[in-house]
Amino acid sequence: MKKIIKNGSIVTASDTFEGDICIEGEHIIGIGTGFDEDQAEIIDAKGLYVFPGGIDPHTHLEMPFGGTVSKDDFETGTIAAAFGGTTTIIDFCLTKKGEPLQKAINEWHDKSSGKAFIDYGFHLMIGEINSTVLNELPSVIREEGISSFKVFMAYKNVFQADDATLFQTLKEAEKLGALVMVHAENGDVIEYLTEKALEEGKTDPIYHALTRPPELEGEATGRAAVLTEMANSQLYVVHVTCQEAATKIAEARRRGVDIWGETCPQYLVLDQSYLEKENFEGAKYVWSPPLREKKNLDYLWKAIQKGELQTIGSDQCSFDFKGQKDLGFGNFTKIPNGGPIIEDRFSILYSEGVAKGRISLGQFVDLVSTRAAKLFGLYPKKGSIVVGGDADLVLFDPTIKRTISASTHHMNVDYNPFEGMEVTGEPVSVLSKGEFVVRDKKLVGKKGHGAYIKRAKYKESLLTATASLPL
Ligand code: URP
Ligand code: ZN
Ligand code: ZN
Ligand code: ZN
Repeated sequence: MKKIIKNGSIVTASDTFEGDICIEGEHIIGIGTGFDEDQAEIIDAKGLYVFPGGIDPHTHLEMPFGGTVSKDDFETGTIAAAFGGTTTIIDFCLTKKGEPLQKAINEWHDKSSGKAFIDYGFHLMIGEINSTVLNELPSVIREEGISSFKVFMAYKNVFQADDATLFQTLKEAEKLGALVMVHAENGDVIEYLTEKALEEGKTDPIYHALTRPPELEGEATGRAAVLTEMANSQLYVVHVTCQEAATKIAEARRRGVDIWGETCPQYLVLDQSYLEKENFEGAKYVWSPPLREKKNLDYLWKAIQKGELQTIGSDQCSFDFKGQKDLGFGNFTKIPNGGPIIEDRFSILYSEGVAKGRISLGQFVDLVSTRAAKLFGLYPKKGSIVVGGDADLVLFDPTIKRTISASTHHMNVDYNPFEGMEVTGEPVSVLSKGEFVVRDKKLVGKKGHGAYIKRAKYKESLLTATASLPL
């Protein structure tokens, strides 16, 4: 049956207008007024914003890390994402040196297939470049639709790749039409500083932050930008936390480098002092790169306002406090890095951004959905509200006030880093490909409704835009 969403305020990255949306099957078939209501299900959206579904370009579901595995998987993680207004995620597929890329991709298909409530794609980690990897990359893009490669400049002896690997990945990506993503921190110097801290008996969570200073994020970001420029390639810097890194991106953009920056909600509302919480609770706030000093928060918001950072990812990588984060009691290097953010990404950005007057509605939609769709080959099927596009929609009540809490969230972990924070606005109903996943704040979606999405090459979907839609 057709669905008509009536009387809502439709918001895209470029426009806000009153109107109705007509949906048939998975797709939007009309936007306007006066649709034939015979045989249609009418959904009243009066007083609500209708946003394109959020796109979270940065998740780590069921990911082995630090001797454990991140707790939310493709089932609980995508349920929580949907409750939070996100209808597409792109997860990082981790590869191992000396093993075929396809083996890692198959592993990621195995753990996600049939489990997701919303659509998902993969980025692929590149840890080494050799003839086997070079031979495999074209089919990764062509057959798997994976058009973004991730290189870690940190996590020495675990994920870290050297500069030559990053440079060759950039050159190859340019040839093949992929976007290179980097975790930009100077892993070698961090390794030295952490060893020294442990020798000096500095084992508390706060030393995680103090051994990864912002200068080392700025240095790595600048280095990656220069390598991108030399390779005449394209770069997306994940989880930018500080002025030191954001200015390197802005400077490179001014030089004409094709470079993009993502930040995450945690860096916009939390600061380094959280790592000093008593009873080892500081471990809940261990991310890499770490939370920064309070003065930095304002700088990040300004970078967003000026368009110097263009997307918001969650970096969802959740671990229980009891049984996982506490593996690092007495040694901060053993605290699994990451936190549960997938559910609150969209709401925090709305509340702290739009409701507090820092960004416009259009900027909000661009940051949480449209820009990621464009960069990662999903646009215009996803990331906007267009005739022929997927009916991935969020009905959002901007007047609701809600307090974030682990006792009410849907993520499968025992704490929420934003516990007690009041937010304005909440997604009340969420549709993925024309079907309700969340309706009036209740889960009605089906496990397995979410499908793996093959993504277009970098910028290809922008050139063909509407021609690629199914109508
Ligand atoms: O602390 C973090 N960010 N954990 C997830 C892995 C990563 O570096 O993105
Ligand atoms: Zn990272
Ligand atoms: Zn991450
Ligand atoms: Zn479709």
